[in-house]
Amino acid sequence: MNNKTPHTINHIQEMKRSGEKIAMLTCYDAVFARTMDEAGVDIILVGDSLGMVVQGMNSTVAVSVDDIAYHTRCVARGVERAFLLADMPFGSYHNESSAMNNAVQLLSAGSAMVKLEGAGPMIAIVEYLVSRGVPVCGHLGLTPQSVHQLGGFKVQAREVEAASQLMEDALALQTAGAQLMVLECVPAALGREVSAQLEIPLIGIGAGADCDGQVLVMHDMLGLVSRVPRFVADFMQGSQSIGAAFERYVSDVRSGRFPAKEHEYA
Ligand code: KIV
Repeated sequence: MNNKTPHTINHIQEMKRSGEKIAMLTCYDAVFARTMDEAGVDIILVGDSLGMVVQGMNSTVAVSVDDIAYHTRCVARGVERAFLLADMPFGSYHNESSAMNNAVQLLSAGSAMVKLEGAGPMIAIVEYLVSRGVPVCGHLGLTPQSVHQLGGFKVQAREVEAASQLMEDALALQTAGAQLMVLECVPAALGREVSAQLEIPLIGIGAGADCDGQVLVMHDMLGLVSRVPRFVADFMQGSQSIGAAFERYVSDVRSGRFPAKEHEYA
């Protein structure tokens, strides 16, 4: 495939089947998007983490659909090749019609897929969106929009019961039509098992080396945030430029050098 051929979901899914690791990063503007695109990042996520790293809030809860749509338009102008994913913010997918209207706004802004958090009642929402032509990515494990219910940003599904519920949820989201899944902050053994059970690609963030790909928040992996979770590595250290840091991230994800044991949870 030509280096500039745009990535489609088919290409991303083929990477899982062929065992090629998928490199994903969050991004919020056009210049960083172009730099990531040129560095070979496969998926660019306009994450609601922008509430924390761009807007300076202490959670993602207050991010709006308009915020994500604005940043998606900015990022889309910088992307030629990477697959563009946008987050549905908290409260934007609590019922079918708001989920549909808000997803359409994000797809119109330039994303190729929307990501939403959780399972349970969200499974029916995913089914509704997918059956109406909206491509969906699930997000399980630590779901930051529920930080106040979870009692903080902490490792999830360490107990046997919670781990098997998570596995059930992942399979149910896949059956509902999700074509991609993010798994955040769970023991590495669970990441391995979920990746093995799912046909769709599983992108981990603090979910161990055996996921089909990895995602990090851009500001974290550039060493711009002082307190970061253990799953983050600073790719700016030892890199001559931001572009070189993105290239090293892609190459370390592809080769399996990142994440290392020190980035995993037991
Ligand atoms: O918003 C975000 O940055 C995310 C990543 C943590 C996957 O959802």
